[in-house]
Amino acid sequence: MKVFELPKRTFKFFVAIHPLFVSLIQLRVLYILIILLGNKQKNMHVIIYLASSANGMISNQRNVPDWLSPEYGQGFMAICQQTKAVIMGKTTYNILAPGYLPLKDEGALVVLTHDTKLPPAQPNVLFTDQSPQAIIAMLESKGYKEAVIIGGTQTVSEFFKAGLVNEIRLVIEPALFDGSLPLLKDVNRDFKLSLSGVKQLNANTVELDYFVN
Ligand SMILES: NC(=O)c1ccc[n+]([C@@H]2O[C@H](COP(=O)([O-])OP(=O)(O)OC[C@H]3O[C@@H](n4cnc5c(N)ncnc54)[C@H](OP(=O)(O)O)[C@@H]3O)[C@@H](O)[C@H]2O)c1
Repeated sequence: MKVFELPKRTFKFFVAIHPLFVSLIQLRVLYILIILLGNKQKNMHVIIYLASSANGMISNQRNVPDWLSPEYGQGFMAICQQTKAVIMGKTTYNILAPGYLPLKDEGALVVLTHDTKLPPAQPNVLFTDQSPQAIIAMLESKGYKEAVIIGGTQTVSEFFKAGLVNEIRLVIEPALFDGSLPLLKDVNRDFKLSLSGVKQLNANTVELDYFVN
């Protein structure tokens, strides 16, 4: 019965090596999990929300915010409440803290600074000197799906430079400033945008929404 001996041996062979197949399947499952987790970070939606003069400046030389409309303020509060994850530079934090921070006792207020040992104005303030990538990964690990960057120029530029910005919402106020702070600085590259919305907020102010390509 030599005819059946070969399949029998073959069967024994497969029984002997079946743990190898099990390991291969486990490896494949692990690989898929790694891919899924790796893609997760790319799902974080990062929005810049800024007020700008008609010539692209985000601050006047006097550094007094008397040119900002109430509608910009309302939009600012609304987007911070929506994302619950707010990123800003230390200079912007110094302007807002303690009385005007856009989140009170919930969410995360991430402040870029080299002085990370400073006492925070409230418990949800996190001072960090981490890279933009590490900040986004940290927020994502805490379950946030989107984050808003509220300024200023240095902070916005760092996130643009790192290629982490998905969307920019610009509230264009009716003013022109000479020699003040531009929206981007030292980024050394161009960005193409796609217009996703235009809203007239009052008689003189418009909001332009763009996706970053
Ligand atoms: N128009 C608007 O919508 C709007 C919104 C917000 C702010 N603003 C204006 O923007 C101006 C502030 O902008 P800005 O560019 O001067 O400052 P900023 O981005 O608010 O803050 C800059 C500071 O953030 C810290 N920082 C930035 N990158 C860092 C990094 N990679 N690691 C560690 N720390 C880092 C540094 O703080 P340390 O020096 O503590 O290390 C740096 O001095 C203000 O005049 C404000 O009025 C306008």
